[in-house]
Amino acid sequence: MASYEEIFEKNAQWVAKMTRNDPDYFEKLASDQQPDYLYVGCSDSRVPANEIMGLEPGELFVHRNVGNLVNNTDLNVMACINYAVRHLNVKHIIVCGHYNCGAVKAAMTPVDLGILNPWLRTIRDVYRMHQNELNEIKDEHARYNRLVELNVLEQCTNIIKTAAVQKSYLEKNYPIVHGWVFDMHTGILIDQHINFEKILKDIQQIYNLTAGS
Ligand code: CO
Repeated sequence: MASYEEIFEKNAQWVAKMTRNDPDYFEKLASDQQPDYLYVGCSDSRVPANEIMGLEPGELFVHRNVGNLVNNTDLNVMACINYAVRHLNVKHIIVCGHYNCGAVKAAMTPVDLGILNPWLRTIRDVYRMHQNELNEIKDEHARYNRLVELNVLEQCTNIIKTAAVQKSYLEKNYPIVHGWVFDMHTGILIDQHINFEKILKDIQQIYNLTAGS
């Protein structure tokens, strides 16, 4: 584990490495950003977004919070999605959950966690919506893993409910929303292949925000 002081040494080493072959690297980086991807993931320190996707600075717009949640009254995540879709014109939005997620584990635990209660309630709501399927799974660890996957699916759906995504898709055929799970035991990213078109069509029976556009 790096000490606090070592972080600045590591930063200097990183700057040297990045400018070795391209002295203007940071000048170019500072001039603009045109990322194709918005990533919504968990704050967990073991899931570093750029590294697991092999993407460089400038290639990924990132929002992270505890449990990779997309609450429609969370101004932070909503502003991020809005900016990414309407101003950066991202082509893909990824919700990335991960196995061993402490937030999902906590949401399955019957204790009072203070201010985390309303935050984790969103995950408990996912559990309730998929109660029949989850209760069929007798092995607790398997049930926990499945809740991680279902939470990703529901947060993808929440992104698809936004006006920014619906209107952009109608006009430009992007962004496409994807649901992934990161398996930290292997380092592998698993695409859950959610059916974006079908989810969009289904939710628009109730959540359609494209009238007049
Ligand atoms: Co997590």
